Amino acid sequence: MRVDGERMREDFDELARIGAVAGGGVDRPSFGDAHLAARGWFLDRAAAAGFETRVDAAGNHSARLPAEGPTLLLGSHLDSVPNGGRFDGALGVVAALHVLLAVQRDGLPLALEAIDFTDEEGTLVGLLGSEALAGVLAPETLLAPRGGRDGLLAGLERAGLREAELASARRDPESLAGYLELHIEQGPVLERAGVQIGVVTAIVGARSFALVFRGAAGHAGTTPMDARRDAGLAAASFDVAVHEIVTRDFPGCVATIGDLALEPGAYNVIPGTARVALEFRSRDGDALERIEQALLGAARSAADRGGVELEVEPVGRWEPTSFDPGVCDLVEAAAAELGLTSMRLPSGAGHDAQALAAVTRAGMIFVPSIAGLSHAPGESTAWEDCVNGANVLLGAALALARR
Ligand code: GLV
Ligand code: MN
Ligand code: MN
Repeated sequence: MRVDGERMREDFDELARIGAVAGGGVDRPSFGDAHLAARGWFLDRAAAAGFETRVDAAGNHSARLPAEGPTLLLGSHLDSVPNGGRFDGALGVVAALHVLLAVQRDGLPLALEAIDFTDEEGTLVGLLGSEALAGVLAPETLLAPRGGRDGLLAGLERAGLREAELASARRDPESLAGYLELHIEQGPVLERAGVQIGVVTAIVGARSFALVFRGAAGHAGTTPMDARRDAGLAAASFDVAVHEIVTRDFPGCVATIGDLALEPGAYNVIPGTARVALEFRSRDGDALERIEQALLGAARSAADRGGVELEVEPVGRWEPTSFDPGVCDLVEAAAAELGLTSMRLPSGAGHDAQALAAVTRAGMIFVPSIAGLSHAPGESTAWEDCVNGANVLLGAALALARR
């Protein structure tokens, strides 16, 4: 049994036109017009193929092939980072749909569900739909989301969702046969090794913090350099310290200030406020704790040196995840069966699979990213690799559903 690679490409290309931006990418942040349109496209395509469709209380969109017994979920996400790539998430959703189509053509009685999870990327919260479905969405996560409370509430309203009902998207783990996700690697490992399929063993843990440096706005022409409380200067020196500390003291870990906004924001006004989005990741939970101590200490030092105040709010915490060794073996066997080369590797990117791994047998398949580029419009993967990945997903799904 194989997926129809030609039809899958037509679907993938049609989807990539929704929210398309220059350079081949898409801009589909959670619950924006393009994201909602992409989700609508998915449900229409699923209904046209004769699948049952379903939207749950967390807004997860599903196409279902019903049969006796627990359901095997196959999925990913259709939201994107701002100005992102067209493969991140979308490949996994389209491939899942085509696995269902292949099984439907064959007439196999398997309970399968292709699912597009809500807000994987964290425009609002991060892993919102998958954590809700797994029943691991913590109430405090909703109180301090990455995109801010107002952004979350406005987004939920746009999508017709209610905060109080999100948790009711939880599925009984007994109703699940497992979860598999195909995704682009988003890094250079497979391409450099010349290997076709990645068997994902683990996912890094990550923590995010919203920091605010508060100084004093003032006249940029008349205030002497030694009489300023420049919040922008404190934030910029913190950014440099983050890079230096993690490079020097935490090899193999990463930290990023992905947003830095100065207020009021004018050529002739000393910044009174600087808002900073800090995120760091490691495969080692203890290292995450030590990075947090070191970086928040550096933020306090930068604030003290600049004579400014500092506010720190934790806005996201994901523990490192290891995937089920038995599922890794199945993925590896499915690749070998197709005559494809494979290797095991951990993921530096977060994925819906990490939420599902807490409650069911879960695993992931990676395909090579050209030049390792992702979260940018130029993100790309050779189409042959995408089809290979979808066929490994199919083979692993058949094996997992039978176990
Ligand atoms: C999701 O793509 C993430 O790793 O941030
Ligand atoms: Mn993704
Ligand atoms: Mn992503």
